[in-house]
Amino acid sequence: MDLLFPKPIEEYVEDHTSPVHQLLEELEKETFDKMENSQMLTGKVEGRLLKMLVHISGAQKVVDIGTFTGFSALMMAEGLPDNGELITCEISRECAEMAQRYFKKSPHGNKIRLKFGPARETLRHIPDESIDFVFIDADKASYSLYYKESLRILRKGGLIAVDNTLWSGRVLNPQDEDSRAIALFNKAVAEDKSVEKVMLTVRDGIYLIWKKNNES
Ligand SMILES: C[S@@+](CC[C@H](N)C(=O)[O-])C[C@H]1O[C@@H](n2cnc3c(N)ncnc32)[C@H](O)[C@@H]1O
Repeated sequence: MDLLFPKPIEEYVEDHTSPVHQLLEELEKETFDKMENSQMLTGKVEGRLLKMLVHISGAQKVVDIGTFTGFSALMMAEGLPDNGELITCEISRECAEMAQRYFKKSPHGNKIRLKFGPARETLRHIPDESIDFVFIDADKASYSLYYKESLRILRKGGLIAVDNTLWSGRVLNPQDEDSRAIALFNKAVAEDKSVEKVMLTVRDGIYLIWKKNNES
């Protein structure tokens, strides 16, 4: 992933954002030491943003699509109340095992349920309008499907956050399958009148999508 802003700007942003818990620092370090594609980890600024969004929206039930090593799941679990619940979806055994190890060490890990297998199967079993907040961050080719399912499971007034919607700027002139999938997804969201949305230039682009209440 190429940074959208020069590295000094990204570092300045990080330096002026609240730090993350020591356990998350350890998780980030182990991920960078051991895992391929470690740049997939959302990181401190996006993690802090997710925690804040979950907390200030008063969400109690969250779905995290794409666990990787558990960073986004743990950050969002921190933002949940003690009786909050988070379902996180992962298809890789290696990622799921590492994430579970960190969930066990965290005081917020008891709020998290990892569902191993294709996210589309996990989502299919979640009842309509039962979820307050969804974070989409798995295979890009399935973004449109995840969006459709997220709108179904989300209560009215709930929020969706979607990662990598700028795809290092490649959405401007999409030349490969993932870039085309994200660009098509972005266009469909922009044209969807059932939601309000704002795309943020945080990290690799985050689309915030609010499922309108009937009266709004
Ligand atoms: C970008 S990473 C997620 C990063 C994570 N949110 C974080 O904060 O570190 C995407 C993850 O989605 C997983 N994944 C890919 N396709 C999937 C699928 N069909 N179902 C569930 N997980 C999938 C990958 O194995 C990978 O770990």
